[in-house]
Amino acid sequence: MLQGKKFILGISGGIAAYKCAQLTRLLVKEGAEVQVIMTKLAKQFITPLTMATLSKRPILVEFFDPENGAWNSHVDSGLWADAMIVAPATANTMGKMANGVADNLLITTYLSARCPVFVAPTMDLDMYQHPSTQRNMSTLRSYGNHLIEPNAGELASGLVGKGRMAEPEEIVAELKDFFAKKEKQDLSGKKVLVTAGPTHEKIDPVRFIGNYSSGKMGYALAEELADRGAKVTLVSGPTQISTLNPNIERINVVSAEEMYEASSSRFEQMDAAIMCAAVADYTPVHKADEKMKRNDNELSVELKATTDIAAALGEKKSDKQVLVGFALETQDAMSNAQKKLIKKNLDFIVLNSLKDKGAGFNSYTNKITIIDKHNKIKEFSLKSKADVASDIVDELVGCL
Ligand code: PMT
Repeated sequence: MLQGKKFILGISGGIAAYKCAQLTRLLVKEGAEVQVIMTKLAKQFITPLTMATLSKRPILVEFFDPENGAWNSHVDSGLWADAMIVAPATANTMGKMANGVADNLLITTYLSARCPVFVAPTMDLDMYQHPSTQRNMSTLRSYGNHLIEPNAGELASGLVGKGRMAEPEEIVAELKDFFAKKEKQDLSGKKVLVTAGPTHEKIDPVRFIGNYSSGKMGYALAEELADRGAKVTLVSGPTQISTLNPNIERINVVSAEEMYEASSSRFEQMDAAIMCAAVADYTPVHKADEKMKRNDNELSVELKATTDIAAALGEKKSDKQVLVGFALETQDAMSNAQKKLIKKNLDFIVLNSLKDKGAGFNSYTNKITIIDKHNKIKEFSLKSKADVASDIVDELVGCL
C-alpha cells in the first residue's frame, strides 16, 4: 500500500526521536521514499548519520548549506511528498505549526505542504494536558491534520500518563489505512446527493431568517465522497466555500423550498443522499417586495413550516437507496435523534450536539455519534470535519 509513496518525516526534539529510526526502516521496507527533515534539537536525540543511512538520503536541517550556499527548498519538498509525518511532534513544534512560526525548515516545509499531514505528539503528561497544548492540537485538527494520539504509559520523566509517542508500527498502520481508503475508490460508479450549508428564508429584500451553518461539514462530505470515486451532486445553501473537485456538481440554492426542489428532482437517480444542510424549519408566509420600514411598535412575522426534505426523500426512497440524516441537538440528544431516524425513514443518522465543545456549527471539528436503523450506536471522538466525513462515508459504504 505504501509502495512508491513519498514521505517527509519531520523530526522535532523529543526523546521519542529514537523511534524514528524504526519508523523510517518500516517505511523503506514498504517501498516508500523518506526525506527526513530534523530540527536542530532533534539532532541531539538521534544522529543525522543514523537517519541518513536508514532513509538512504541526506537529511535536511538548515535552510541552506553554509559550505556552498545550496538552498534546501521547503516549497519543493512540500510539493514532492504524498504525506508529511511530524514525529515526534513536541509541544513547541505543534505550537509553531498551529501559529505559523516559520523559524526552521520543518515548519516552513509544513506550511508549504499541500499533502495530508500526520502529527504524532509526544511529551510529559502535564504538558500534554495543558490547555495551550490541547488548543494547539485542536487548531491542527481544524487545519485537517491527522493527529495520531499518544499512548499512556511510563514517560521519560518517570511519571506515568498519556504522552508516549505512538509506536512506529501504529503510525505505519494509520498511513496504510489512510492510503487504502483513498485508493480503493470504494464509491466508484455511485451517485450521491449531499445537502450542505444553511437556507435563507426571505422576509424582505434586505432581511432573512437563517442559521449559523457554514457548510464545512457538508463540503467535507462531498470532497470525501468524490475522492473515493462517487459522482456527487452538492445542493448548497449560501456559503463562502468553493470546490474545484471535478467529481462534484454544485447546485446553489437559497431557500428551503429551492433546496427541496433541487434535491427531490434528482433523488431518483441517486444511490444515496446525505442530508447535512441546516434547513430552516419555518419560512415567512408573506415575503415583502420592498424593505419593511421601522416603526416603534412590535413586529410579528407570520411563519409557516417548510417541507421536511429528508422526510420527503425518506417517503420515496427505494430499497436500493441509502438515506442519511443529521440531528443537531441541544437537549435529549439521543432520544431526539432516534425519533428523527424513524420519522424520516433514514438508514442512519449522524448526531452532533451543540453541548459538545468543538462540535456543530462553523467549527473546523465535529464530534458525532452514528445511530443506525437497527439502533446500533457508534460514538466517535472529536476530529477534523474531514476525518468525520471519512467515518460517515465508511458507514455509508457499509450500507450500499
Ligand atoms: O455547516 P457547518 O457549519 O459545518 O455545521 C454542520 C451542521 C451542524 C449544520 C451539521 O453537522 C448538521 O448537524 N446538520 C443538520 C442540521 C439540522 O438542521 O438538524 P435537524 O436536527 O434540525 O434536522 C434533522 C435532519 O432533517 C437533518 O438531516 C436536516 O438536513 C433535515 N431537514 C430538516 C429540516 C427540513 N426542513 N428539511 C430537512 O431535510
